[in-house]
Amino acid sequence: MVDKKHGHVHHSRSSRDILSADKVLSEAGLKSGDSFLDAGCGDGFISLAASSVVGDEGKVYAVDVYPESIDMVKKEVQEKGIKNLEATVADIMDKIPLDNDSIDLCVMANVLHGFVANDEVEPVINEIRRVVKPEGVFAVVEFKKMEGIPGPPFKVRISPGDVEEAITSYGFEVMGTVEVGDYHYLVKAVKK
Ligand SMILES: C[S@@+](CC[C@H](N)C(=O)[O-])C[C@H]1O[C@@H](n2cnc3c(N)ncnc32)[C@H](O)[C@@H]1O
Repeated sequence: MVDKKHGHVHHSRSSRDILSADKVLSEAGLKSGDSFLDAGCGDGFISLAASSVVGDEGKVYAVDVYPESIDMVKKEVQEKGIKNLEATVADIMDKIPLDNDSIDLCVMANVLHGFVANDEVEPVINEIRRVVKPEGVFAVVEFKKMEGIPGPPFKVRISPGDVEEAITSYGFEVMGTVEVGDYHYLVKAVKK
């Protein structure tokens, strides 16, 4: 999609077919009972997988600025009779509709590179920091910085080092990086 407000072209294409949501969530450490945020959820395939992991005691919040994506998530939630997933249209640069210190794990998959390209990291990561609990986890998933498809053009891809640089100034400490599938890596950070 084209984000008219910020000028950057954000692609709403899903990674559903090339990225295992279960692998992402197990590497990020999602547990039963957790409050989970999918920041820039797209079609919500990671949120839908998270809803099974967190169970009845947990809660999943799927947020995207693109109303059509949220409609898709809501449709699937309704079709599958899922009760613990709330999908909301919101601009994460502006305000995530969640309380301070309320999230155990936030995953941001295939979104951060767009904010880096537009020099928009600060408001987004400050907002993520606000909603994540102290010692809560922020897991950033990005396409490996290599040429070829699938994924965004090489010049806008970011490396694990770029992710670390983008988030550590805003109070996150990087714990490590792992490969998740053929095309992606995950940087796991903790809110300090
Ligand atoms: C490449 S898609 C990734 C979607 C999903 N996370 C995945 O991995 O399949 C990037 C998503 O970020 C969303 N996005 C971009 N800027 C946003 C913003 N400011 N607030 C909320 N969502 C945003 C887009 O609408 C799009 O759905």
